[in-house]
Amino acid sequence: MPAQIIDGKKISESIQAEIAKEVSQLKKERGITPGLAAILAGENEASKIYVRNKETACKKAGMFAEQHTLPVTVTEEELLHLIYTLNHDPNIHSILVQLPLPKQIEEQKILEALLPEKDVDGFHPINMGNLLIGRPTVAPCTPMGIIKILEAIDCKIEGKDAVVLGRSNIVGKPTALLLMQRHATVTICHTRTQNLPEKVRRADIVIAAMGHAQTVKGDWIKKGAVVIDVGINRLPDGKLTGDVEFEEAKKNASFITPVPGGVGPMTIAMLLWNTLQAAKRSAA
Ligand code: GUN
Repeated sequence: MPAQIIDGKKISESIQAEIAKEVSQLKKERGITPGLAAILAGENEASKIYVRNKETACKKAGMFAEQHTLPVTVTEEELLHLIYTLNHDPNIHSILVQLPLPKQIEEQKILEALLPEKDVDGFHPINMGNLLIGRPTVAPCTPMGIIKILEAIDCKIEGKDAVVLGRSNIVGKPTALLLMQRHATVTICHTRTQNLPEKVRRADIVIAAMGHAQTVKGDWIKKGAVVIDVGINRLPDGKLTGDVEFEEAKKNASFITPVPGGVGPMTIAMLLWNTLQAAKRSAA
């Protein structure tokens, strides 16, 4: 039987509807409107679309959202100054610095300037460190979205063999930690991994997040495995595709996410969720 295609848009919409209800309650009962400030520096076309979508989703859920657009020539000092201002703005509960940043900016320095409690992406070392040691934290949006997908399809994580392809700070590493917290046995694979097909063939859960079009071949997928494809790659004909050979993988997987319409919409839902939690924390 071919895999069931996971409708990330539908799962995301139902989470966003729940968030909207909570936002309205928070406004009514506590007079607090969750607020997000998104910083977009430079001219990356994909980033412009991501930030616009995030802002639109916040407003649709009844939150306050503002965008700060900075030129590609922005200096580190200017960016830091904006972050300090937003850190002290009581109407802003979450700050998003869209990555990548222009090359003259030291990314880590900027992420560390955010107040950890306003760091909506969970990229601050304090938040990353808390994630590592299993303490309450702000967890990165895409990894959390992946976990929500697994929950939505009732995928049992405990005791399963999970293979995470990619070791980025944004997706690979935090996803591996979240899976391990849920008692999966996790293997992280990367560009220097040997015998990659063999490792993927053992996996009950495959998380593909290496950012290379259709690199994971369909015949690497174990019968009945759950496949989550985080990749968004553009083919020469302009079409979007994931990191997994979708049509072939579908023949072996039990569940698989499409690209687009799988993980992407979940990242936005989790961004709203993190903003709502930050607003609630500020009221506590
Ligand atoms: N660039 C690619 N993915 C992300 C993300 O999840 N958050 C931010 N801030 N930038 C990104």
